[in-house]
Amino acid sequence: MRRLGARGVDMVIRHLEGFRRRTTGETAGRAKLEALLHGPPPVRGRAPLAVLRRLERDVLKYSLSTNHPRFYGFIPSGASFPGMLGDFLASGFNVYSGAWIEAAGPAQIELTVIDWFRRWLGMPATAGGTMVSGGSVANLTALVVAREAMLERSDRRARARTVLYASDQTHSSIERAARVLDFPDNHVRLLPTDDQFRLSVAALEASIRRDRKRGLRPLCVVANGGSTNTGSVDPLPELARLCRHHKVWLHVDAAYGGFAVLTRRGRSALRGIGRADSVTLDPHKWLCVPYEAGCLMVRDRRLLRRAFDVRPEYLQDIRLRKENFNFSDYGIQLTRSWRALKIWLTLQIFGTRRIVASMDRALDLAARTARRLAASPAFEILAPPSLGVICFRYIPEDLRRKSSSRTPVASRSAAEERRLRLVNEQIVRSIQERHWSFLTSTVLNGRYSVRLCILNHRTLWSDILDTLGEIETAGSAASAIV
Ligand SMILES: Cc1ncc(COP(=O)(O)O)c(C=O)c1O
Repeated sequence: MRRLGARGVDMVIRHLEGFRRRTTGETAGRAKLEALLHGPPPVRGRAPLAVLRRLERDVLKYSLSTNHPRFYGFIPSGASFPGMLGDFLASGFNVYSGAWIEAAGPAQIELTVIDWFRRWLGMPATAGGTMVSGGSVANLTALVVAREAMLERSDRRARARTVLYASDQTHSSIERAARVLDFPDNHVRLLPTDDQFRLSVAALEASIRRDRKRGLRPLCVVANGGSTNTGSVDPLPELARLCRHHKVWLHVDAAYGGFAVLTRRGRSALRGIGRADSVTLDPHKWLCVPYEAGCLMVRDRRLLRRAFDVRPEYLQDIRLRKENFNFSDYGIQLTRSWRALKIWLTLQIFGTRRIVASMDRALDLAARTARRLAASPAFEILAPPSLGVICFRYIPEDLRRKSSSRTPVASRSAAEERRLRLVNEQIVRSIQERHWSFLTSTVLNGRYSVRLCILNHRTLWSDILDTLGEIETAGSAASAIV
């Protein structure tokens, strides 16, 4: 066990060391990987070290490092060693995190970690939460709690009339959750956003009033606390006021941006988040821990429990003492792994000061990137940097405007827009194929956009310059052929 464990640790450390000199990883086609890996399990066991060698050579090689300093795609990760160790120890001790009588110490650590989150968000002492796999499950859980809190379970008529409000920038997990919960498709309103991709409070209020008049039951508003597309934050204080007035549940999906409240800039951007009825957080995004770690916070933790409280006879022993806190009463999972450990270890070992400093550095890098892009005629910013996300496109030489006549997003003919799309698609494709950096794209107001998400504490300004250089090179090559 020691030899094998040491080999596993060594593999991880070699992976983390010297990231910058390596590509972000490799990928391969289905046929190649099927030929390499598909087949029945061996009847007789194989030599463990040989199995690990094969794992490294044939499996892990074809996987991107989302915590590589030049990985800016989708949402990168800042996963660090203490968190990795936390996952190993939670598995090694095979901690069952559902019932206090089975793991009192681990349950207390989860309560403590959740209380840190509560304080960071500025939620009241009544608030509590639960660790889940990620933002998608946290969002689903939030909608269950909202519905159970606002409607009688037996009132099928009211349930069929509930309406959910979100913006056209809301993460797809909300639509998915609405599907799981059987919300009628036409009762999910994805409302338009303003020029900064923020939900329009006036449009929301009008929609709520219209629905009420039609006899529908406005149930929940989902606000963005850092949207995936642009990092935008909806006007949380106004939304809190509106929701209270209309007796509608306010859920803030802060899976991406929530932990930015630890920084001065993030606190200002997320002002009002503590007034929400529930908040989704994803420690596996900005808190330097590996997948999976999501969290749902609920303003009144009793509502979280009420939503999931079912008491079968075979679990009567976990309730013998009233003070026991059983996390299995607060969510969908009965058997739960001990996700809080990796967060606790990470914060114990690094301390909040270093975590906050790493977040601040990422915010600085994003702002500096934006300034660099804005100063260059080769780029056009499509969404200003918000909480580390920046969206822009490359402009071929013949389509560049003189800086004096440059507006933030120049209006262009349909033919120019088509060409810009093709050129930028080609840039993203060629960078993804090269794997030196990894970035992804999105579409904003119909415009194809290159998107960088900068949150990894390992990323340096030199990495960004390297990547911007790659984009320019790929852009000028693409412009020559498109
Ligand atoms: C704003 C937002 N909400 C929800 C999610 C879903 O989280 P997860 O992938 O952890 O399920 C994401 C993930 O990117 C996100 O950015």
